Amino acid sequence: MTAQAPAQVALETARQRLIVALDVPDAAAALAAARALEGHVGMLKIGLELFVAEGPAVVRAIRERHPALEIFLDLKLHDIPNTMRGAIRSARELGARFLTVHAGSGAEHLRACVEEAAGALEILAVTVLTSQDAQACREAGHTRAPEELVAMRAACAREAGCAGVVCSGQEVARVHEVAPSLLKVVPGIRPAGAAADDQRRVMTPARAIASHASHLVIGRPIMQAADRQAAADAIVREIAGAL
Ligand code: C5P
Repeated sequence: MTAQAPAQVALETARQRLIVALDVPDAAAALAAARALEGHVGMLKIGLELFVAEGPAVVRAIRERHPALEIFLDLKLHDIPNTMRGAIRSARELGARFLTVHAGSGAEHLRACVEEAAGALEILAVTVLTSQDAQACREAGHTRAPEELVAMRAACAREAGCAGVVCSGQEVARVHEVAPSLLKVVPGIRPAGAAADDQRRVMTPARAIASHASHLVIGRPIMQAADRQAAADAIVREIAGAL
């Protein structure tokens, strides 16, 4: 076996850090994207739109046809521990790597999730939704600023044994200080010059990686590109340059 050149290794490492958001309405669109992106990105994120429409079958179909692509189930679970445990038991068999749960319920809830995942899934805690600004946090009864809440919840996720957190690019450096060992999965990423769409506070891939993001979630800049493979490859090169 020939050793890979260092540049190839860097590109492969970068590829594993790129997660594409499959924000599509049905399995046909999801499978078409998976076909195009296999070998170009590391992971696909299945969120509520696709999961509610197609259920676990779409996860199984992608896993069967494209085993090299990892799956991030972004279901943002939030319920009593017993119900969370049941949902996680059901998700365990799907072959996904990441599953999101809300961090706001505290360490006991998160510990129950990690225990029930039993090593078959890596639990990511969603710290504070980026749609929640300071006023929304106050209205929800929080006395702390969003960035304080993010740091507290990241510490809680670390204590509970979560694999990582989802946070914005604005908070990822702070999360890294509080919990350097956690994976930090960051959405709201836009290559320089790309349309921000409805994202308000965007960050480039290179800057997010330099701020200690472990994985980047990118949707429209890849999914709506005329050439999805070329768009993904360009972002992978930018990530590799920042590693
Ligand atoms: O198309 P775009 O790159 O903006 O997609 C980002 C993805 O990340 C979407 O699936 C969106 O729901 C998700 N996300 C986000 N901000 C968060 C959490 C998740 O944009 N705070």
